[in-house]
Amino acid sequence: MSTGTAVAALDRQQVLTTLGRHWNPTAALMLAATGRQLESHARGSEVFAEDGSRALDFAGSYGVFLVGHQNDAVRSAVLDALETAPALVPGTVHPATADLFTQLTEILPAGLSEFSLGCSGAEISEIALRAAYLARPGRRRIVIVAGGYHGKTLGALTVLGQHEHRDDFTPADDDLVIVAPGDARAVREAVRAGDVAAVYVEPVLGGAYLRVPPADFMPEVAAACRDTGTLLVADEIQTGFGRTGRMFAVEHSGVEPDIMLLSKALTGGFVPVAVAAMTEEVLAGARRSPQWYPGVLDGTAVSALSMAAAAATIREVRERNLPERAETVGRALREGLKWAVRKHPRHLVDAPGIGLMTGLRTRNPSVENLISMQMAARGIHLGHSLNEQMDQPVLRFYPPLTVSAADIERVLAALDESLDWLDRRPAWLMRRISSLLRRQYRLPPPLVLKLMHSDLEVNW
Ligand SMILES: Cc1ncc(COP(=O)(O)O)c(C=O)c1O
Repeated sequence: MSTGTAVAALDRQQVLTTLGRHWNPTAALMLAATGRQLESHARGSEVFAEDGSRALDFAGSYGVFLVGHQNDAVRSAVLDALETAPALVPGTVHPATADLFTQLTEILPAGLSEFSLGCSGAEISEIALRAAYLARPGRRRIVIVAGGYHGKTLGALTVLGQHEHRDDFTPADDDLVIVAPGDARAVREAVRAGDVAAVYVEPVLGGAYLRVPPADFMPEVAAACRDTGTLLVADEIQTGFGRTGRMFAVEHSGVEPDIMLLSKALTGGFVPVAVAAMTEEVLAGARRSPQWYPGVLDGTAVSALSMAAAAATIREVRERNLPERAETVGRALREGLKWAVRKHPRHLVDAPGIGLMTGLRTRNPSVENLISMQMAARGIHLGHSLNEQMDQPVLRFYPPLTVSAADIERVLAALDESLDWLDRRPAWLMRRISSLLRRQYRLPPPLVLKLMHSDLEVNW
């Protein structure tokens, strides 16, 4: 497969040197340390490297590659749009956009019929916040869940020099009420006074231990919101389009939010895009605000390519009934992970998750790192928790929903071998590795490469 001459000419050392010098020296060092080859292409559940090796991708970019890498249907929709549409806005004035909105209204919970577009999860979280403030004038407070994740942009509004865009939309710290995960009573208490504009929830806490809330949490939060005119914002950026075994995770509890956030898997990993779906009531409220103007709830960089990719991805999810696959194949994966927890309690605490949104809660970061490295050595990529501060990080297993039962079995067999390998390490070595890992980002880079037997140089 051709990768384009200029790109293909760069070798692994050159690529890492450039990334280390111009982007993220720590990430480049970690890539060099693990000796990971450059990826040349990917297909379905597999990623191929330039040296011909192949790996099963169970990291899936935290849920982006839901329909498998290089999905044929999505790829050809993107290529068609590339030939026929303007690449930039107003590229959204395209049949693919109408196709996307029609399909969304067919699959979303009742009432979510109005759409705003952005390019990333963080952007769409902010658009939803803006919509909530417009639709609930006079209410400044927002309820969030401890451990929730909605993106990490911080500064765009803060540094905006046009106060009419900024003043009504930037929550102050004391406008935020933080409740414990799963604590519906705390949410009811927080919204009681009727001064909260919105409650933001992830139906499954993707960034915080893959915590699935108790069955009554979402219905009780929805009821508290309904009773007080508070908007319920369901962030389905990680859970949406079948990952949890239902098209949307709110379907497990039958809750109908006022706003739903979608991104990640939405375009099959081809072109980033994000959608906020909201009810007519929210939009009508926003339109009544003196702050309203057309475009206040949209980004400006959405293209027809992303619209075409999104419409084709949703069709693929529906036609192949991928939510149901996530439910059945996910059950096998989760049972295997739970068996591993029972067999290796010295290293593992739990196997949280739902559908194909699964993981292993490890005893400490060194266990997470070592399992991840052992699995990589066996040709399986897993999703690192990306959080060195976590006490018991959850190593993610997010395969595409198209994954085969045979691949799941292969992963579970490799996990068993990796854990047996870990069992054979003496306790003193594990402690030494833990202390090295805690200092990994501060160790001299050449020492890290030496410890990891890497043949690369740190020359950035
Ligand atoms: C639940 C959730 N919301 C929001 C985001 C932010 O998305 P982005 O990284 O595209 O800004 C993420 C990203 O991981 C997420 O998992």
